[in-house]
Amino acid sequence: MSAAKPQTPSSTSEAWSGRFSEPVSEQVKIYTASVDFDKRLAFADIDGSLAHARMLAHVGVLTDTDLRDIERGLVQIRDEITRGEFVWSVDLEDVHFNIEKRLTALVGDAGKRLHTGRSRNDQVATDIRLWLRDAIDHLLDQLQALREAFIDQAEKHADTVMPGFTHLQVAQPVTFGHHLMAYEAMFARDAERLRDARHRVNRMPLGAAALAGTGYPIDREYAAKLLGFEAVCPNSLDAVSDRDFAIEFSATATLIMVHLSRLSEELVLWSSPRFDFVHIADRFCTGSSIMPQKKNPDVPELVRGKTGRVVGHLMGLITLMKGQPLAYNKDNQEDKEPLFDTVDTLAATLAIVTDLIAHGLTAVPERMRAAALEGYATATDLADYLVCRGLPFRDAHEAVARAVREAEARDVTLEALPLDVLQQFSPLIKKDVFDILTLEGSVASRNHTGGTAPEQVRKAVVAARALLKDNSG
Ligand code: ARG
Repeated sequence: MSAAKPQTPSSTSEAWSGRFSEPVSEQVKIYTASVDFDKRLAFADIDGSLAHARMLAHVGVLTDTDLRDIERGLVQIRDEITRGEFVWSVDLEDVHFNIEKRLTALVGDAGKRLHTGRSRNDQVATDIRLWLRDAIDHLLDQLQALREAFIDQAEKHADTVMPGFTHLQVAQPVTFGHHLMAYEAMFARDAERLRDARHRVNRMPLGAAALAGTGYPIDREYAAKLLGFEAVCPNSLDAVSDRDFAIEFSATATLIMVHLSRLSEELVLWSSPRFDFVHIADRFCTGSSIMPQKKNPDVPELVRGKTGRVVGHLMGLITLMKGQPLAYNKDNQEDKEPLFDTVDTLAATLAIVTDLIAHGLTAVPERMRAAALEGYATATDLADYLVCRGLPFRDAHEAVARAVREAEARDVTLEALPLDVLQQFSPLIKKDVFDILTLEGSVASRNHTGGTAPEQVRKAVVAARALLKDNSG
């Protein structure tokens, strides 16, 4: 009966210490243990073990009675973990030994037979892939929600004119909807990358055993099917040792964070009183403890800051891999914390940014418009106007530069210069010039796929929605 209640387990060294003359020191035990963090893999570990046991029974290596005992024990362990009753022990080194030891306590010899034809090397590689596959699916849902938020805002602001910048100088007028759809395009590529990386995560190491495979008549394809893997890893040495799938995921996560960081930088700038292009809802901001007038955009700043740690984890994982000879090395135990933290940071960031874009961001179109007018943003349109009427582009550029200087001297916008003044810079200028000198005329003229015209923004919104539907369907 005592076996039915969670109890303090004994030491892991029993699992391999028959040939050792002394137990590991306390210091080494703590240094080498991973259970504090790899217990996050527990459910993946149980799923992997269930599939392994079912496969062993399927090929006749385990009896049906053993399989039933193992299944009963693992289901109970899952319940104990869910209820928070499972007793994790650092003496048992990692998640795998903790669960195996408890299983043996619950079901006896059948528990000891579970590890037949398997090693912790293929076990842990399988666990991480199962865990990461789930994480990717959740992140894909989150990316979808973020993209929907951008698309909805872009639709609302298809006609809102703002200055477009290069070198952070006012360059040409664009629509705010177009600007927002630029981010949608980035996150669409990120989702594509994530789905693609998922295929390489979703391959099964199980069966590689320690490194060379196993002499038991295992059926890897059978286990792979049970676990929903697309294929088995084709080489046992590679299966237990490479973590390229984690690095690839981490690189993809880094790009998502980099895109979120660029957005954040813009939100910080735009929400500052100097720009005042957008208002960020108070619940995303904090005040200053000393300066009562301040409202700080903490969320975007932290997103920008947290990008650094995700980039750091990518560097950590790449460096972890670079010097390892085939096959498994304990170095690989260090793959988990960066991977977990990358997923946690990205998931939390996507959730908060989606809420901010969907419900916490208000544009201030008058301010955007005023900034676009201040910067002679339609100067290129005037040059194009002259080129259309036969002037070589370089001459047109020069004529417009002089017109801008005149407008600057008078402290007015280009469209506020009287026609006869404009005509001093080129006789080709006629009354219709005022159609293109306005901000609306300028953006409306860029009416081709990928251009900033309101009509194109609305088309891009429709196309993006259709793509999102396809991907999720
Ligand atoms: N905790 C180990 C890891 O994360 C599990 C595999 C250990 N294998 C071994 N041969 N020591 O990589």
